[in-house]
Amino acid sequence: MTWSSFWKYLRQHWIGLFGAFLSTLAAAYFNVQIPVSIGSITSVITTMVNAGEAITFKEYWERIKEPALRFAFVVASQAAASFATISMLSHVMEGVAAKLRHDLFDAVQRQDIEFFEFHRTGELSKRINQDVQELKSDAKKLLNSGIKAVAQTAGVVQVLYGISPTLTASLGVGVGGIVLIGTVIGKMLKKHSIQANRESSACQNHSYESLSNIKTVRAFSAEDKHLESYDELGEIATSSARKLGYGIGIFQGLTNLALNGLVGGTVILGGSMVGSNQLSGGDLMAFLAAVQMLQKSLATVSQMLTVYMKMKIAGDQVFQFISLEPGRTVAEQDGKRIPHYKLIGNISFDDVDFSYATRPDDPVLKKFNLQMSSHKVIALVGASGNGKSTIASLLARMYDPSGGKITVDGVDIRNLDPKWLRGELIGYVGQEPALFTGTVADNIRYGKPDASDLEIEDAARRANCHHFISSLKDGYFTKVAERGSSLSGGQKQRIAIARAIIKNPEILIFDEATSALDNESEAVVQKAIEENFKNRMVLIIAHRLSTVKKAVQDIIHVVEGGKIVESGNHEELMRKRGVYFNLQNQQSSK
Ligand SMILES: Nc1ncnc2c1ncn2[C@@H]1O[C@H](COP(=O)(O)OP(=O)(O)OP(=O)(O)O)[C@@H](O)[C@H]1O
Ligand SMILES: [Mg+2]
Repeated sequence: MTWSSFWKYLRQHWIGLFGAFLSTLAAAYFNVQIPVSIGSITSVITTMVNAGEAITFKEYWERIKEPALRFAFVVASQAAASFATISMLSHVMEGVAAKLRHDLFDAVQRQDIEFFEFHRTGELSKRINQDVQELKSDAKKLLNSGIKAVAQTAGVVQVLYGISPTLTASLGVGVGGIVLIGTVIGKMLKKHSIQANRESSACQNHSYESLSNIKTVRAFSAEDKHLESYDELGEIATSSARKLGYGIGIFQGLTNLALNGLVGGTVILGGSMVGSNQLSGGDLMAFLAAVQMLQKSLATVSQMLTVYMKMKIAGDQVFQFISLEPGRTVAEQDGKRIPHYKLIGNISFDDVDFSYATRPDDPVLKKFNLQMSSHKVIALVGASGNGKSTIASLLARMYDPSGGKITVDGVDIRNLDPKWLRGELIGYVGQEPALFTGTVADNIRYGKPDASDLEIEDAARRANCHHFISSLKDGYFTKVAERGSSLSGGQKQRIAIARAIIKNPEILIFDEATSALDNESEAVVQKAIEENFKNRMVLIIAHRLSTVKKAVQDIIHVVEGGKIVESGNHEELMRKRGVYFNLQNQQSSK
């Protein structure tokens, strides 16, 4: 973590920070004043006791009034300063944390899809939530106790210097040595701390994955297995965290040992100075009392070093991603938008090469060529794993090809504004539609945020889901459970289709979007889509050929091994007795 990047966030709250800084100093000052003012009360009482005469309460109050009022002022001021420090710091740091979370979420969300294939959801959510939290609370501690301890240390050093510059200097050498050793140990601790952090991330990922796939876990009765592997990860994480704890213990122990040694050393060295009349006995006593105060503040400083280290690690996690530029496929750059009156919607894949970043040596498309003209219903068929979904993802610019280009009306999609490309030009219904927490209506409106209730109902009718939505108790206002788990697969798919229909894009991609529907529902949906998108392009991807047969395709492309091997309509392809014919036979013989 660089301080300059953190400072950018703190700077915006500089008034609050400066206020907190001043009140911390004030609190430190009044802290030192409390024993002093108790001392003056005690000395009034001591004088009174030594005089040995009985006095009335009035007389007593006369004598004690001034130091007592002073004491009251000091403690009240200390309380006020503490309150001011803590509330100002909380105000500032909560603001900083909120902005950090916002920026981090924004930066992560704008990464290319590849980023999410390398970083797991559990890890990302830990950074956005836990690490920001850790950074915030550590920074708060540092700013509060840290500044106080440093200020008190400075105050005490001044007192010490006033008593004996020589002794203070030798004390300084000792403290310097301790700091040096502390730094070395701190470095070693940091290594353990990073490791502990990484391992706790792995644990979090594991529990996240298991719980979000609980139905699969349950179906295989695999709870014990998951618990076992969770425990294995947990054991590793616990052992690292323990090692870190031991390390911190050793660090703190050594610091205490060194500080106490310093007090002893001072007595012995001071004693010799008293012996040679360089220092009075009283001064040595005063010096020792002050050293003990110094020791307390330094102990706090050393605790703060540990806090600092933890903060830095959390900060590394946060700032590593916050500073990431948006991914190429997301950034707006100076992307073009093809104006509506010019847009035809012809698509061309020219010599496209592509392999997934997680499997770079395993090309999915090699010199892939495909021309698709607008105003058509086009089908891509082929056996599983042959690259159909990849072609659709490339068209929606989820990824960029490593060679060749994809064009819309002759314009490379890399030169188009990605927001327009995905937000308006292309509608995409994927293989596993995702619904979000909210109502059914919210989920349909996702495709067109300003849609009226009437438009929503209309889209739902076209997607053949109005009927089932109306039969729900709360109709369109029925809450959808997390990720749509309260709906059937086919219901989810139809809501996702309604969402794409309401968006009304120029090019509509259906990647197995009706795979969970029964034949009859599928036919209804297909008919509605064909009517609705007559003058656009609909790209239907299927490996169930019955899906394809039902639609009035203009052309069917058969994909095999990342290439188009056959094209034509159903009859033509059947006549060819090639790949399509074989697929058809395999499926109808099932
Ligand atoms: N995110 C990914 N990372 C790495 N490899 C992938 C990824 N997605 C797909 N692949 C691989 O790319 C190849 C093509 O996959 P694709 O999903 O395009 O096939 P498909 O034709 O849509 O298959 P299906 O009919 O089963 O949906 C497969 O070998 C697959 O293993
Ligand atoms: Mg697919």
